[in-house]
Amino acid sequence: MNAPAKTEDFVATIPAGVFAETVTSVQHYTDHLFRFRMTRPESFRFRSGEFAMIGLMVGDKPIYRAYSIASPSWDEELEFFSIKVPDGPLTSHLQQIKPGDTVLMRKKPTGTLVLDALTPGKRLYMFSTGTGIAPFASLIRDPETYEKFDEVILTHTCREVAELKYGFDLVEEIRSHEFLAEVVGDKLRHYATVTREDFPFQGRITDLIANGKMFADLGVPRFDPAVDRGMICGSSAMLKETKALLEQAGLTEGANSKPAEFVIERAFVD
Ligand code: A2P
Repeated sequence: MNAPAKTEDFVATIPAGVFAETVTSVQHYTDHLFRFRMTRPESFRFRSGEFAMIGLMVGDKPIYRAYSIASPSWDEELEFFSIKVPDGPLTSHLQQIKPGDTVLMRKKPTGTLVLDALTPGKRLYMFSTGTGIAPFASLIRDPETYEKFDEVILTHTCREVAELKYGFDLVEEIRSHEFLAEVVGDKLRHYATVTREDFPFQGRITDLIANGKMFADLGVPRFDPAVDRGMICGSSAMLKETKALLEQAGLTEGANSKPAEFVIERAFVD
């Protein structure tokens, strides 16, 4: 029989130059979605909306994937929202983590879904599908978002109603939060739609933009490059089609080095 692994053995296997953090909570939403929170290293700084490389030791090798940080930059813990892929090299293991387990994180965060990559505007749209809501979960909890914009519209589209729960819980948490509730006021709007079940709001966001229903539902005018800004996070096809709709309306894509009217990032772990 093998002797149980000692803590020293485990510590010795952690690669050099990465953070090894402790899971503090795990919540499962569906068979495919879960959220976890973990400790945040004192020296780890990031901008709300960025992603980091998250990993686990699988056997004697670390496996990493890019994960948007879903918690805001002021939070003392780090939060992530993940899918579960049955045979996924990382998520098949990650979905089994429990409080107290160790998760690895590379030291440098990065990403384009940051407020600095947008020129000043009045209304900020955040378009997401599936786990693409994660970077926006960070940004809608950051007071700076509300200093820069008068109105923040978070759209989230999933196949099924149960997949929207993370977003609904998040908005509810903000509205009852000790200090965020006041900072956010009535600036945050949440527009959730599903594509494969009955729900008051149905359809792909791209269709709802193209046919004008999103604007009618929200009671806002069509996109105007003078005041509207956008951030997009979803699958490659969703990014491409949403980007085309914004470009048709006269908005241009920006980056950290060249701020403009909208920015995009793929929801990596899919
Ligand atoms: P649909 O059910 O019509 O495919 P997925 O789970 O495949 O990542 O999809 C998440 C959500 O994104 C689903 O509601 C899906 O709608 C929608 N979606 C998929 N492809 C696109 C696209 N090209 N543009 C907009 N939405 C999309």
